[in-house]
Amino acid sequence: MTELELLIDFHKNAERQGPGSTADTLRALSFIDLEQSRPLKVADIGCGSGAQTITLAQNSEGHITAVDLFPEFLDRLKQKSASQDLQDKITTLEASMDNLPFGPEEYDIIWSEGAIYNIGFEAGIKKWKDFLKPGGYLALSEITWITNSRPREIEEHWNTEYPEIGTASGKIRILEKNGFSPVGYFYLPQSSWIDTYYKPMEERFEDFLIRHGNSEAAMRIVDAEKDEIRKYRKYKDYFSYGFYVAKKLPEE
Ligand SMILES: C[S@@+](CC[C@H](N)C(=O)[O-])C[C@H]1O[C@@H](n2cnc3c(N)ncnc32)[C@H](O)[C@@H]1O
Repeated sequence: MTELELLIDFHKNAERQGPGSTADTLRALSFIDLEQSRPLKVADIGCGSGAQTITLAQNSEGHITAVDLFPEFLDRLKQKSASQDLQDKITTLEASMDNLPFGPEEYDIIWSEGAIYNIGFEAGIKKWKDFLKPGGYLALSEITWITNSRPREIEEHWNTEYPEIGTASGKIRILEKNGFSPVGYFYLPQSSWIDTYYKPMEERFEDFLIRHGNSEAAMRIVDAEKDEIRKYRKYKDYFSYGFYVAKKLPEE
């Protein structure tokens, strides 16, 4: 198995592939004020195995196109949606978020939890904007500094990993600059990192290593995740995922 295949294998059976929770998805959804007299068209981009897709399907009147690059995650989502009788509300689509086969103004809502960083926050907003109807909503979670200054180790770590990391005011400015009116912001509580993401992940380490015969590549993946968890526990007061909900303004 390549390192990428191992990484997919490590994450595919998890409930979620990034920090978040049902409560966070519902909180973000509560900022969206759309007439539901007709079924809404929703795209969930970088859906992973679809924890938030299922929540959206259960709590909105509409159809969700759930997009991810990796079919292994989409297969898990298909199993989950079938087992909850939600298969008519969710269509999966294997595609890259930087080359989506969507038409202009096709969607009412574009949702993306913990995934837009793959192409960058601003690049993603610019690319996806055309697919939204005027008055439609973007709901994005994105790694965010939650204080104005922070210790050097964590600053350097994130500036290397994802130089686009910034404060909420900077992210909101990007949304405004690109024709959106922000309607809601909050950041994920620590429980959405630890209880719903890292603790279940820690419980998978042993089984994953055994399944892969304690190979060096498997150990590298576990060590990298452990290091990420250590950094989160040490510096959790300085960063989180910010959740941004913004309405697309009509073109001037
Ligand atoms: C951190 S995970 C978040 C998954 C899910 N939204 C969640 O919160 O549990 C990021 C997701 O983006 C997907 N991804 C990475 N690059 C992608 C791309 N170019 N196009 C579509 N999806 C991509 C990954 O496969 C992964 O499922």
